[in-house]
Amino acid sequence: MKDSPRRAGMKIPALIIFCLVSMANAGYAQRPHPAPAPTGPWMNTSLSPDERAALVLKEMTLDEKIALLHGVGMPTDEPVTPENAASNRGVGYVVGIPRLGIPGIDMSDAAYGVRSSGVNGRYSTALPANVAAAASWDTDAAYEYGALIGRELRAQGFNMTLGGGVNITRDPRNGRTFEYLGEDPVLAGTLVARLIEGTQSAHVIGDIKHYALNDQESGRNSVNVNISKRAARESDLLAFEIGVTQGHPAAVMCSYNRVNGDFACENSYLLNEVLKKDWQFPGFVLSDWGGTHSTEKASAAGLDNEEPGHFFYGDRYKAAVQAGTIPVAELDDHVRRILRSMFAAGVIDYPRQRSVVDPFAGMETARRIEEGGIVLLKNERAALPLNAAKLRTIAVIGSHSDMGMISGGGSAQVDPVGGNAIMPPGKGATRWQEEIWFPTSPLKAIQARAPKAQVKYDPGTDPAAAATAAKGADVAIVFAYEWESEGMDLPNLSLPYHQDDVIAVVAKANPHTIVVLETANPVTMPWVNAPAAILEAWFAGSDGANAVGNVLFGSVNPSGKLPNTFPKSEADLPHATITMPPPESQHFSGPASPEQWARGLPPFQVTYDEGVKVGYKWYDAEKKPVLFPFGFGLSYTSYKYAGLQVTPGKTVKVTFTIANTGARAGAEIAEVYASLPAAAQEPPKRLVGFSKVKLDAREKKTVTVEIDPKYLSIFDEAKDGWMLVPGDYTIMVGGSSQDLPLKATVSLK
Ligand code: BGC
Repeated sequence: MKDSPRRAGMKIPALIIFCLVSMANAGYAQRPHPAPAPTGPWMNTSLSPDERAALVLKEMTLDEKIALLHGVGMPTDEPVTPENAASNRGVGYVVGIPRLGIPGIDMSDAAYGVRSSGVNGRYSTALPANVAAAASWDTDAAYEYGALIGRELRAQGFNMTLGGGVNITRDPRNGRTFEYLGEDPVLAGTLVARLIEGTQSAHVIGDIKHYALNDQESGRNSVNVNISKRAARESDLLAFEIGVTQGHPAAVMCSYNRVNGDFACENSYLLNEVLKKDWQFPGFVLSDWGGTHSTEKASAAGLDNEEPGHFFYGDRYKAAVQAGTIPVAELDDHVRRILRSMFAAGVIDYPRQRSVVDPFAGMETARRIEEGGIVLLKNERAALPLNAAKLRTIAVIGSHSDMGMISGGGSAQVDPVGGNAIMPPGKGATRWQEEIWFPTSPLKAIQARAPKAQVKYDPGTDPAAAATAAKGADVAIVFAYEWESEGMDLPNLSLPYHQDDVIAVVAKANPHTIVVLETANPVTMPWVNAPAAILEAWFAGSDGANAVGNVLFGSVNPSGKLPNTFPKSEADLPHATITMPPPESQHFSGPASPEQWARGLPPFQVTYDEGVKVGYKWYDAEKKPVLFPFGFGLSYTSYKYAGLQVTPGKTVKVTFTIANTGARAGAEIAEVYASLPAAAQEPPKRLVGFSKVKLDAREKKTVTVEIDPKYLSIFDEAKDGWMLVPGDYTIMVGGSSQDLPLKATVSLK
């Protein structure tokens, strides 16, 4: 099939022209600046955000306070009204207080890039999915990821992100696995903290979500998650704790589900006790969209802001304050938190200023982060990297790899330039829960790197035809994908659309078969022994094809490692199937009355009796062999670990050397695990630190990882706090959770 220029993807100059023209068409440049220059004693920048917020609060009327507690609907979907006119047509808008120079809060989803750009005639970069960035284990890359999102939000006139998903991957079938940062709380928490710091560096209010235990999408609005406090604090909540205390997000979004009986957005344990009191979170809590279910209860439990509308936090809230059922001090606390977050993030001192997104910088960053996150899962007989000089024929098979690469759906969806790459011209708009392909063509990237080779494409829809295409080619490269989205879970861990069959027959037809996966969740691989090499490329972002091309042909040495275990089968998961909601927990029968809405859908129960045993902790404890372990990933070079020293102290210092024993430069992710004393009653080991180390060929470096004492502790329910169990701790270091050559025991008390 011949590519039309549109289908093949726009070149950068065309792309810029497209952006500028569409911005002009959208009247982008003509809109008035929303907020007048602020004045008042609170503009004294030598005061703290809290002091400044207190000064504003003193001046505010009851109506003005209430206005900050809620949104005015979803500007994306609604006509322009006086209330939302100053917004940039994102998913949420809180009207500011012009009289006091307080701007509106203009929110956009931005998980892997700024959402809904296309509909507004704008451009935004699609970074590789969050899980791909997590696979880089690279804290600097996480900052860069967040900073790019912050810059592009600001350029589009937004001053708040709704990114920062950090629910740990308790069930790998969760349809939002691509938006999250893997199964380990220390890895996920550390990365989200850096991501938020990056975003907030652009004077954008940062947010982490979905707090908490929103670990399945099926029945997310009604499910009641049952879990012990200890297990919650040591798993899902630990990721949030690290994110909040190290990244200092100005906002936290509470989730749709219930936790131990109460909706997360009216759960006093989660919001007041843990988040605000224990973690000392000074910012504000906003509800997930439609996740507010009450006025008095939610307010008392610590919910500061209802989104996207004002069913509970508008007139009802005002009436409750006037009737005295909500104390003014409680109202003021919510308002102060919102104001102080605006000062802290800098959205008042650095007002929104629209400009043009730099697509060149975005593509470059997206490509680099993807290159750092691609995981080489298998490489027999050094099948990779490919040597272009020796290749005469290449068969490229499957997954629309002639035209594009897949992206994750739902509210995270970033619009590709020109629309869905695989749709005919004029039909390319992105739609909710539809597979969206980015115009980044692996076929072209491969051809560009092997200009003398004849590169042929087969769509991979018919196994026999794919095998014929592969037979006789010097190399066959099969692209396989599994799309996923918010609002749904995957039925199992198998590749869909008979792709397992295609891979099996292609690998049989051609011994030099390379499989490139575009998946976010782990997949099973009944064919794992057949191909020579397997690469996990995730949802690869705006410039994914060049990143994959660079790894395939060796100009980039792969260095990513799995942030999620790949099990052998879903039968090995803690729950062989996902508990689905019964019909009455799925929908209201007919339009819901306000009272029904307040109560929410009747709950159905999901019990996380595996507790803290999430991901590798489960497989370790249950002694279940896996397909590819957490933290696993190969390189084109090899590394040797030696010289472990563990020094106890305020933090435990772990020092060791890594040598690159090969002839190629690379980057090795060194992983540090601890095994706790038996009295702690914990799974066999947990990740307590990591470091990504760049090494030239034959270079050796000394690495020190300092371990936060909390990462060695357990959560003691009786004491309601973290506690180090005295005894012997084994510290293990290596390149994967199942390859830890260095071990030392240290006694701690
Ligand atoms: C999602 C959030 C998102 C919000 C606004 C909700 O359905 O769960 O992640 O930020 O919508 O789009």
